[in-house]
Amino acid sequence: MRKPILIANWKMNGSLHSNQALLVRMLSKLRPFRKTMDMAICPPFPYLFQVRDLLGYTGIALGAQNTSRASSGAHTGEVSATMLQEMGCRYVLVGHSERRALYHESDRDVAARFRLVCSANMAPVLCVGETLEEREQGQTMAVIERQLRAVIGETGMAGLVGSIIAYEPVWAIGTGRTATPERVSETHRAIRQFLESCQAGVGESIRIVYGGSVKAGNAADLFQSPEVDGGLIGGASLQADEFSAIGAAL
Ligand code: G3H
Repeated sequence: MRKPILIANWKMNGSLHSNQALLVRMLSKLRPFRKTMDMAICPPFPYLFQVRDLLGYTGIALGAQNTSRASSGAHTGEVSATMLQEMGCRYVLVGHSERRALYHESDRDVAARFRLVCSANMAPVLCVGETLEEREQGQTMAVIERQLRAVIGETGMAGLVGSIIAYEPVWAIGTGRTATPERVSETHRAIRQFLESCQAGVGESIRIVYGGSVKAGNAADLFQSPEVDGGLIGGASLQADEFSAIGAAL
């Protein structure tokens, strides 16, 4: 039985003042769901300390949005996985499509980050998904398998155990367009089948969440399939009412 998980990715949003106000509202609204699902908040790096303190003993985990592909040393501006672990992070997003597209992170870069997150005893949230062009060319699973193979090549199947996969069709992120629930369910099933073909048991046990314009109004439909173990929520995680309504739908 896979425990559902709801992850908030605040992206590059927030301030000391607004984070405090958002979390105070959010925490009271999320209280009913704390036992039935895992939850994590991924703020920008400078706010990790603040959010960690506000989360306190709520059971809601702290996560980070990225990490360096180097473990330490002369990498100005980078933040290592061990630093994030020391700050109290339990999850780290790797390979988000914005990182792949805007900052040119390759499959190999993403795989290196994934390995470092595992080595620091945190759970990577590996983001995979196709662009609109790739989708129209029928390349969805070829793209996702390539992204997964890069990670498997770096860590073996052992690295996948305990990690989370976030299926995020690039064309659905921040656009208001979502994949249909049927399409999401089919893609999650295909990811499981691919992982099962690599090693029996991994595909069925790994948590696969959906991300891409999830809102209170479409969450119940998107989460109805047993293939969908939760959500990676961007824009709607910046509003306490929306995010808690998404939690209620899970
Ligand atoms: O990490 C979150 C995803 O990129 C989805 O973002 O909910 O704003 O579309 P969105």
